Amino acid sequence: MTQSPMARAATQFEAAFGAAPSIQVQAPGRVNLIGEHTDYNDGLVLPCAINFGTAIVARRRDDRTVRVIAADYDDAADTYSLDAPIARLEAPMWANYVRGVIDDMVRRGLPVCGMDMVIAGDVPQGAGLSSSASLSVAVCTLFATLPGFGHLTPIDLALAAQRAENDFVGCKCGNMDQISSAAGVAGHALMIDCRSLDVTPVPIPSNVAIMIFNSQVTRGLVDSEYNTRRLQCEAAARHFGVPALRDVDLAMLEARGAELDPVVLRRARHIVTDSARVADAAVALAAGDLARMGELMAASHASMRDDFEITVPAVDELVAIVKAAIGLQGGVRMTGGGFGGCVVALVPHALVDAARAAVAQHYRAPNGEQATVYVCSAAAGAGACP
Ligand code: GLA
Repeated sequence: MTQSPMARAATQFEAAFGAAPSIQVQAPGRVNLIGEHTDYNDGLVLPCAINFGTAIVARRRDDRTVRVIAADYDDAADTYSLDAPIARLEAPMWANYVRGVIDDMVRRGLPVCGMDMVIAGDVPQGAGLSSSASLSVAVCTLFATLPGFGHLTPIDLALAAQRAENDFVGCKCGNMDQISSAAGVAGHALMIDCRSLDVTPVPIPSNVAIMIFNSQVTRGLVDSEYNTRRLQCEAAARHFGVPALRDVDLAMLEARGAELDPVVLRRARHIVTDSARVADAAVALAAGDLARMGELMAASHASMRDDFEITVPAVDELVAIVKAAIGLQGGVRMTGGGFGGCVVALVPHALVDAARAAVAQHYRAPNGEQATVYVCSAAAGAGACP
């Protein structure tokens, strides 16, 4: 059996630093069930934290040096002093997520101290399951265990991680991934109001499996297209004279849509309709109404494909294959930022094998690869481990 990320990190720590770690933390990745690109429009999302995550084991140092080892990258290392400005690196990127969080904490005057740390994770990378948010939230969680940090809530940790990604790493993501990772509740999805930051746990019925299919299509255009979508959404909000598309409803869009550039109108329609679908989905999921979830997830996928234009043909095909296997008994859609990555399905446990078999038989990525399949559970959020 392969070692857990925590065990791998601990073994590596002892080998590299010659002592046992004294702090262990973990932070999960997430899968978004519905509500895509709505977070940076101040809308609603319905993700859940998953049982794949990032583990960090660490020990405080008496000096001002930070030494970080990434066990998953051939033990790549990054060493720096807290007394000098912390710079963003061209490479490796993983190091910037750690540097970004520490830089944010130093700037906020928090009592950051020197640290030896080893990081390991098992979130599939580049698949839209928030491996990077799980890393930055794990780093926040680690330092939050230190004396002098006061009581930081999961939302505080999530916002610190998001600041690091926005301001230091340079990724203009919203707040969904970090809040999911920090505030996850086992067995529950989270309805997050990305404006008020209210988090409402929504129970996932015990007969429902969360399946994730990795299309094996790398998310090539994600950064540039992500930023273009953000700008289009902001343009639409400006047109209506509101702070964000959260403040626009379908009636407003229909009444004044002709004033908008047709592409911007479609982008806005996706945001307005997908955010509304989240509210409906939270009710349907809690009631165990998988047929309704299926309708909502299908409508969300069509909206991402036709209005927001963030799907790719292979992902559309994968969604169609899973849908054919589960029929009206479950839901499936692309999840995450788009342009490849993963598809999420909510299916009764009894249909897991059928969905898996259909994908093995009928799906091939453009490069000929099969999809990888994960049957996940909804996990608790980040925290220190005893
Ligand atoms: C990425 C971003 C999130 C969110 C999703 C799309 O995962 O990091 O903030 O915008 O895309 O829903």
